[in-house]
Amino acid sequence: MKIGSALLAGTVALAALVAACEGCKPSSMGKPALSVVAGAPTGRLVLFSDLAAALEPCGCVADQRGGLARLGAFASGQAFPVVMGAAGPTFFDDVQLNASHAAQELEKAHTVAQVFAQQPVFLAPSRSEFAAGSDELAKLVAESKVGVVSRSLRVAGQPVGEPRLVSVGATKVAFIGYSGAPHDTLVPPLEGLSFDANVTSLQSDVAAAQAAGARFVVLLASSSRGEALRLVDRTPGIDLVLVGAPSVRGEVVRDDVPIDRIEKTVVVEPASRLQSVVVVDLVDRGGAFEEGDLAVGAGSRFVVRQEPVASKLTKSPESARILAEYDARIDDQNRVRYASRTPAPPREGEAHYVGVGVCGGCHAQPLAVWSATRHAKAYPSLTEKHKAFDLDCVGCHVTGYEKPGGSTVTHVGNLENVQCEACHGPGSKHVAGGGLKSAIVRKPDPSVCTGCHHEPHVERSWRVEQAWPKVLGPGHGAHPG
Ligand code: HEC
Ligand code: HEC
Ligand code: HEC
Ligand code: HEC
Repeated sequence: MKIGSALLAGTVALAALVAACEGCKPSSMGKPALSVVAGAPTGRLVLFSDLAAALEPCGCVADQRGGLARLGAFASGQAFPVVMGAAGPTFFDDVQLNASHAAQELEKAHTVAQVFAQQPVFLAPSRSEFAAGSDELAKLVAESKVGVVSRSLRVAGQPVGEPRLVSVGATKVAFIGYSGAPHDTLVPPLEGLSFDANVTSLQSDVAAAQAAGARFVVLLASSSRGEALRLVDRTPGIDLVLVGAPSVRGEVVRDDVPIDRIEKTVVVEPASRLQSVVVVDLVDRGGAFEEGDLAVGAGSRFVVRQEPVASKLTKSPESARILAEYDARIDDQNRVRYASRTPAPPREGEAHYVGVGVCGGCHAQPLAVWSATRHAKAYPSLTEKHKAFDLDCVGCHVTGYEKPGGSTVTHVGNLENVQCEACHGPGSKHVAGGGLKSAIVRKPDPSVCTGCHHEPHVERSWRVEQAWPKVLGPGHGAHPG
C-alpha cells in the first residue's frame, strides 16, 4: 500500500496551538478555577485505550460493558470542561481490512469519527489506523476533528502529528503522542510508514510544552507497555501516561491493568474496547499539580480513577442516534451490497447442508430436544434487533456460515438458527446414504462450540463442559444414568 501525505494537512506546531477548543468551555458556569467549591473539579480528562471500533456491546450476554454512546455519561452535563484522549487501535480492529468486510469496517470507522466529533479528542494513532490507507485515515481525522499528537509516527518521513496544548478550564494541558512500531511479526510493513523511537525528541516535546505554559502533561502511548514505561522513566515532567497497544488483530478483549506509578508519573491502561475508561479530575488552584484528594491542600490537585463503562450508564442521545443510524445503514446497505454473495458450492465429493427439516424427518427425538434449546431461536435474536444483515453478528446465529454448500449473510434460506449441522457437520451424504454413519460426525469436538461460544459473546465463566449437557436430552446423546 502506498501512502499519501493528506494526513499532514492541518498539523500545526505546538507554539501555535494554545488551542481554541470549542466545547471545552463549561456551559453552565462563569469563571472556572480559583474560587470553586472545595474539591469540585475545574476540568476532566477522559482516557481510553484500544477502542478498536467497538461501537456497542453485541448483546449476546446481559449487562455487557462498553458502548460509545455511554462515553457521554462521563462527559456531558458536567459543570466543567471535558477533553478526551485515546491510545492504541481506535478506528479499526485490525491492521488490514478483511476483504469481505471492508465496506462495513469503513462505515464503522466513520461512525467512530462522528461520535468523536462531538467533543475534543486527542489521539496517538497506532498501526491499525492505517488499515484502510493513509488517505482514508486523513478523512477520518478530518471528520472526527481528533487532534493527532504523535510525532514519532512518520508518513513519507513527515510526522503525522504534533503535540497539542489545550485549555481545560484555566489549565493548559499538553497532549503528547508516542506511536511505537508493532511487535506482532505478522503485521505487514506499510510502504512509507516509519516509527521513530527517539527518546530525546519526546524529552524536547515535554520541555517545549512546559515552556508554552503546559501545567499538566499527558503522554498518549500507542506502544508496548514496556516501551512506554522506559520512555517515561527517561522523560521527566510527564504527569500521566495512557498506554494502548501498537496494533491489534480482531476482537480480543484485554482486561484492566491496575493504575500504577513511576516516580510522579501515573500509568494507566484501561481495558480495551471501551470496557473501562480512566477519569482524571483536575482542581486548578494555581501552581504545580499533585496527585491526591481534590479537597485537601492549597495547591492544584488531580485524582485518577478507572471506571467500568457499565450498562446502567446513561447514553448520550446524540451518540445513540449516530449509532442507530449506523445500524439502519448496515441493515439496508448489506442486503443490497451482498445480494450476489452466494455460498460456494461444496467441493467435489463433499457434503452440503440440508437443514433441520430434513434431519428431523428421521430423528424425531433429537429434533424435539433441539427445538427446546436457544439454538433453535438464534436467528430471531438478530432479526428482532434488525441485525441479521450485520456481518459482525450473523455468522454465529446461523448454520454453515460462509462454508461451501452453506449460508451467507444474504443467502440463509433454511439454515437460519444454530441447527443440527452446525454441530454435526453438513449432512447431505449421510441423508443420501439413508443414514450413513460414516458420513456424519457423531460427537462434535468441543472446539466446535467455542468457535461461537467465546468472549465477548459469552460470560468469562462459560465452560464447554457445563454447557454440553444442556444441548442433550432423551434420544439426543443423553445417556441414562
Ligand atoms: C433418512 C433418514 C435420516 C436422515 C434424513 C438423517 N439421518 Fe441421521 N441417522 C439415520 C440413521 C438410520 C442413523 C444410524 C442409526 C444407527 O445405526 O444407530 C443415523 C445416525 C445419525 C447420527 C449418529 C451417527 C453415529 O455415528 O452414531 C447422527 C449424529 C445423525 N444421524 C445426524 C443427522 C443429521 C445432522 C441429519 C441431518 C443432516 C440426519 N442425521 C439426517 C437416519 C437419518
Ligand atoms: C454456530 C455457532 C454455535 C455453535 C457451533 C454452538 N453454539 Fe451454542 N449458542 C449459539 C448461539 C448464537 C446461542 C444463543 C442463541 C440465542 O439465544 O439467540 C447459543 C446458545 C447456547 C446455549 C444456551 C445458553 C446457555 O448457556 O444457557 C447453550 C447451553 C449452548 N449454546 C451450548 C453449546 C454447545 C455445548 C455447543 C457445542 C456442542 C454449542 N453451543 C455450539 C451459537 C453456537
Ligand atoms: C462469535 C459468535 C457470535 C457473534 C459474532 C455474535 N453472537 Fe450473539 N450470541 C452468541 C452466543 C454464543 C450466544 C449465547 C450466549 C450465552 O447465553 O452464553 C449469543 C446470544 C445472543 C443473543 C441472545 C441474548 C439473550 O440473552 O437473549 C442476542 C440477542 C445476540 N446474541 C445478538 C447478537 C448480535 C446483535 C451480534 C452482533 C453485534 C451477535 N449476537 C454476534 C454468539 C455470537
Ligand atoms: C449444539 C450442538 C448440537 C446440535 C445443534 C445438535 N446436536 Fe446432536 N449431538 C450433539 C452432541 C454433543 C451429541 C452427543 C455425542 C456423544 O456424546 O456421543 C449429539 C448426539 C446426536 C445423535 C446421536 C444420538 C445419541 O443419543 O447419541 C444424533 C442422532 C444427533 N445428535 C442428531 C441431531 C439432530 C438431528 C440435531 C438437530 C435436530 C442435532 N443432533 C443437533 C450436539 C448437537
